[in-house]
Amino acid sequence: MYEILEKKILCPQIKEIVLDTPAIAQKAQAGQFIVIRIDEKGERIPLTVADYDREKGTMTVIFQEAGKTTQQLGALNKGDFIMDVAGPMGIPSSVEKVGTVVCVGGGVGSAALYILLKAFKKAGNKTVAIIGAKTKEFLFWEEKIKSVGSEMFITTDDGSCGRKGFVTEELESFIKKEKCDLIFAVGPVVMMNAVCRVSEPYKIKTIVSLNSIMVDATGMCGACRVEVGGETKFACVDGPDFDGHKVNFQLLLQRQKMYLTEEKTILDMGKTNEERECRCNNE
Ligand SMILES: Cc1cc2nc3c(=O)[nH]c(=O)nc-3n(C[C@H](O)[C@H](O)[C@H](O)COP(=O)(O)OP(=O)(O)OC[C@H]3O[C@@H](n4cnc5c(N)ncnc54)[C@H](O)[C@@H]3O)c2cc1C
Ligand code: FES
Repeated sequence: MYEILEKKILCPQIKEIVLDTPAIAQKAQAGQFIVIRIDEKGERIPLTVADYDREKGTMTVIFQEAGKTTQQLGALNKGDFIMDVAGPMGIPSSVEKVGTVVCVGGGVGSAALYILLKAFKKAGNKTVAIIGAKTKEFLFWEEKIKSVGSEMFITTDDGSCGRKGFVTEELESFIKKEKCDLIFAVGPVVMMNAVCRVSEPYKIKTIVSLNSIMVDATGMCGACRVEVGGETKFACVDGPDFDGHKVNFQLLLQRQKMYLTEEKTILDMGKTNEERECRCNNE
């Protein structure tokens, strides 16, 4: 059993919890995820490691309440217990000194940015954060992210904070004025696809963290399969990071739609897939 040591409500439907997971905290690295099961009848769901403290033996996750399990998790409080926490899973992000690294986060995907930027900064890179949300009230961890970024840009759909518009517009502005050696994008599939379309003509290597539907997260079931460079890969064991310019995003979107249970999609801050696609096609 794993105790919830802290719980915070960050934004509408987005919560942060700190878990007592000493063994996982010792090994967790940027880019990895955990799989939790709340109780014996619960479903397993993957959540990105948003932060960890090796000394305290804790790990932080940020989640958006999208369906049954994330809502059930959101209803738990400090002092409550989760039955299973497995991890860290997935291949850690490849962190090297390359020059200037721009990390782009969309919606709850920004949860991955803090430890990613921290790792790139520690490796000697100039780190730039671009975070996007629907409105000001859906932004979180700005100060924390700013503390590990040489520069930080915010975009909101309605202009209530930072630039009015999308992360892709801010990214393109940055690429046009400064040297950029590597881009990392974490967020809704449509947003990661749009980031790749912006960076491709500039030939800037772009890594995306794929949030495919996962069932076992151990490479056995094939639910998370994605096509990368014409080959089938499993996001849970071969990823979740992949070269975004080689990902077949259309196939990934089709697979995600197969499991849609409601109009709204998780990680997409209240936009329907059609709205996002329409927006992406217009970009
Ligand atoms: C590697 C990885 C890391 C993730 N990290 C985070 C995280 O840090 N924070 C967070 O909030 N979420 C994260 N997710 C997504 C999270 O796992 C799903 O939101 C969760 O499984 C939904 O479970 P549920 O029972 O609450 O909702 P369900 O009832 O299963 O689904 C509710 C809605 O969400 C959609 N959905 C379910 N899973 C996904 C998914 N993987 N991608 C897109 N849409 C999905 C469904 O189609 C449905 O529309 C991650 C996913 C992966 C694969
Ligand atoms: S989730 Fe089953 S193979 Fe990846």
